[in-house]
Amino acid sequence: MRVAIASCLRIPEPDLDEPLLLEALAGAGIDARVLAWDDDAAPFAEHDLVVLRSTWNYYQRVDDFVAWVARTGQATRVLNPPEIVAWNAKKTYLSELPERGIDIVPTEFVLQHAARRPVADIVGERGWDDIVIKPVVSAGSFRTERFSRETLPAAQAFLDALLAERDAMVQRWMPSVDTYGERSLVWVDGVVTHAIRKTPRFAGGNERVSGEVAIAEDERAFAERALLPFAAELLYARVDMVRDAGGTLRIMELELIEPSLFFLQSKPALARFVSALARRAR
Ligand SMILES: Nc1ncnc2c1ncn2[C@@H]1O[C@H](COP(=O)(O)OP(=O)(O)O)[C@@H](O)[C@H]1O
Ligand SMILES: [Mg+2]
Repeated sequence: MRVAIASCLRIPEPDLDEPLLLEALAGAGIDARVLAWDDDAAPFAEHDLVVLRSTWNYYQRVDDFVAWVARTGQATRVLNPPEIVAWNAKKTYLSELPERGIDIVPTEFVLQHAARRPVADIVGERGWDDIVIKPVVSAGSFRTERFSRETLPAAQAFLDALLAERDAMVQRWMPSVDTYGERSLVWVDGVVTHAIRKTPRFAGGNERVSGEVAIAEDERAFAERALLPFAAELLYARVDMVRDAGGTLRIMELELIEPSLFFLQSKPALARFVSALARRAR
């Protein structure tokens, strides 16, 4: 059995999961190697299974990436599955979650080719004070900035610059990222394995995460409910959530493509990942 771990040619930051994963796969007798999705010569099709991992530059060429995943999925097995990757690559997927009773961070999409409302109108109508503006296709806090009612002209200028290149979104800034924290619940092969807490990160900042944190029962249930429609198809997932002022859990991101899985914080999660992967590659 040969497994390809998909990364990219110029990784924006080190993948802390990768050495642990490679070591654990080797320990399980699985022949794995890291290949770059954006290397045209990389022989992904020669492998029995391709596992998407640190393909962290994909947001710069999202259409190419989604097409590459689909193509590779015709030649061999790709996990997570190509159709789910295509759906998850644009944060507009968030707008489908409330229909399923899954609350999201309050969001207004501002799309390049649709009628646009000024930020001041959005903020006024929604009654928001602080906001975050970010791209619809993004990773690693790329071009993600916070503004307030006092900095609306700067917010509008930032949004206009973003829209010249890509679709954008305006969200209510969630104050609990500074207190309770954004929680990432990691899910492997049907089970929530562990959780970490993230420190707020805006453009240019580094990711800082905690050790393993306790998972509240409502957090676990929320993550499971959010993943339910895909659960049978997924190998891994991460559900990033925050609490609003009333304590309601809201999705920040459903990460089904290339989330860090924080294996450093959980050996059992790594073991579960490796055995689930081995089962699927057979
Ligand atoms: N609405 C928001 N309220 C508070 N912080 C936010 C909000 N949106 C984004 N952030 C901060 O920016 C980071 C990156 O945003 P996120 O939506 O997770 O995109 P990505 O991880 O794909 O770059 C979050 O982890 C959080 O620290
Ligand atoms: Mg995120």
